[in-house]
Amino acid sequence: MEVEDINTIAVLGAGSMGHGIAEVAAIAGYDVNMRDINEEFVQSGYDDIEWSLDKLAEKDQLSRDEADAALERVTPLVDMEEAVSDAEFVIEAVPEQMEIKEDVYEELESAAPDHAIFATNTSSLSITELASFTERPERFCGMHFFNPPIRMQLVEVISGAETDEKTLEVTEELAEAFDKTPVRVHKDSPGFIVNRILVPLMNEACWLVTEDEATIAEVDSTTKYGMGLPMGSFELGDQVGNDVSYHVLDYMHDVLGEAYEPAPLLEEKVENEEFGRKSGKGFYDYEDGDGVQIP
Ligand code: 3HC
Repeated sequence: MEVEDINTIAVLGAGSMGHGIAEVAAIAGYDVNMRDINEEFVQSGYDDIEWSLDKLAEKDQLSRDEADAALERVTPLVDMEEAVSDAEFVIEAVPEQMEIKEDVYEELESAAPDHAIFATNTSSLSITELASFTERPERFCGMHFFNPPIRMQLVEVISGAETDEKTLEVTEELAEAFDKTPVRVHKDSPGFIVNRILVPLMNEACWLVTEDEATIAEVDSTTKYGMGLPMGSFELGDQVGNDVSYHVLDYMHDVLGEAYEPAPLLEEKVENEEFGRKSGKGFYDYEDGDGVQIP
């Protein structure tokens, strides 16, 4: 299959990454079937796309007509068969847990056309292991977007052990059609490149606060103003989602060892369901509080 043969893209998962990827694909002119496991989740993702497109139109980053046309190209769905049966390319962006992904791939494999390429937006899990849940490991790769997908330029394209060259090329060309910059990652290692560097940085910030060596405000002002990051470390954690960072670290801890042990502060945030912006509260309070306050 060539990239020109792709008309319909199915995005599985309508959470912060799934809806953002669906939005990017729709803006690029693709018909997008965005699927989640219930009406509430899929509607919430659809509302987020509408909000974002309105923002882009308000700021003249898209015309009103382009924004409306992009929204029209997105179909929110709950039924897996309906979502994937006419898709040439499927991007999976469901929660970062191997067992959840395994169930999704089982259902997906029997509903998707044989020629469709499967790409996973996993943040850290083994592409080779995820591919083994399907019958098409040669047409399976990582396509890792960054949060928020509408604003972040990079897409890591990761090869599994059996991914064929054509699949990687088509995925890179698709990322370019989305107006993104693909970077090929040849080794399927935990966290790939960005998360292997970035998530331990955010974890180290949590250890500093756990051990009472710094405050959140101190860490965020130093990481933002001294290290040239666009956001403070905790601000970024809230943007990415504390549950996502935790699952990435937990997996790296299992596979790579002690150095990646999640800090108690991060664990506590996940236990309290303080996931960050998406839940209204994380290291900062976005609902009743003043949001991010970096001196
Ligand atoms: N769509 C449209 N507009 C949006 C939006 C969206 N999805 N999200 C935020 N906005 C709007 C805001 O509402 C705000 O609008 P306002 O000005 O009217 O209030 C505006 O965009 C925010 O713009 P700012 O001027 O505050 O910020 P910038 O535009 O300068 O930059 C940013 C925003 C691009 C997010 C920048 O802060 C950044 O690059 N942050 C770092 C993000 C990052 O590193 N992401 C990668 C994390 S790792 C990851 O995702 C991997 C995963 O696997 C864990």
